[in-house]
Amino acid sequence: MTQKTIVLTDPGQDQAAALFMMLGAPQAFDLLGIVATAGNIDLTHTTQNCLKLLELANRTDIAVMAGCPRPMAGDLVTAEHVHGPTGLDGPQLPAPTTTISEEHGVEFIIRTLRAASDGEITICSLSPMTNLAMALVQAPDIASRIRQVVAMAGAYFEVGNITPTAEFNVYVDPMAADIVLNAGVKTTLLPLDVTHRMLSTPARLAAMGAIGNRCGTATAEMLTFSQTFDLNKYGWEGAPLHGPCVPAYMLRPDIFTGRQINVSVETGQNLATGMTVADWWGITDRHKNVFYVRDGDPDAYYDLLIECLGNLP
Ligand code: RIB
Repeated sequence: MTQKTIVLTDPGQDQAAALFMMLGAPQAFDLLGIVATAGNIDLTHTTQNCLKLLELANRTDIAVMAGCPRPMAGDLVTAEHVHGPTGLDGPQLPAPTTTISEEHGVEFIIRTLRAASDGEITICSLSPMTNLAMALVQAPDIASRIRQVVAMAGAYFEVGNITPTAEFNVYVDPMAADIVLNAGVKTTLLPLDVTHRMLSTPARLAAMGAIGNRCGTATAEMLTFSQTFDLNKYGWEGAPLHGPCVPAYMLRPDIFTGRQINVSVETGQNLATGMTVADWWGITDRHKNVFYVRDGDPDAYYDLLIECLGNLP
């Protein structure tokens, strides 16, 4: 069944792959619009990167809106050390010929949800959750229109990646994550605990490049660039491929496992800022607000990505 979907993203090579997975599965995703987030790189770059990726996939019919230029509190933390100075380093993607919408991303979220029926629209969050949280604060009535939030966010058993305790998307805007997780909306998290199982080995990168189309080739080149930092850091056979876990879960929930638990966010300024405290063993009586995905099938995951990439130009 096709799901009406709003995508929140700060591409980021892994998120390029996630966007391509969605675009390669039009039977499942009706993309209503993309809200560019400040995160991996600044907002100027993330908006341009969204335009570049849509042009590469011949999908300039999908609108791109710029969200907020920084998190709800504090300064923006970026990740050029992973993604490069443009955020999409690797291939030389042509400068976009299209432009973003004049509508602000937060206003787009509010307007689109208010025009929807209850439980009609899915939010795919690949980035910090700043713009969804801002929309929920500005217009609390929109929560009922959200079918579910599916987000790449958080970590518990795999601990942090941007600090010893926090995953990047939550660390950039912990207040936003806290607001979303307590909005009373059905929420599924794809944390580092599962994305670290999805390693882009040389064979898997080669399979992407062997598809023979420009989106497959660009994805292989992008991930070959962005893997460098993680290979040096973790010493694994491949770098974890985070973003596509979100659309993959929506396409094939059967290849993932998890449980309904409480996840709370450390929003204070301390050693654990941005930590997602996952009550996996049900020790507290806190509300079980999240379906927390802890594991998945890497072979099925990459087969799905290759299949979707093969449907693109
Ligand atoms: O922590 C990993 C996530 O943060 C990835 O989606 C990466 O693109 C960054 O946004």
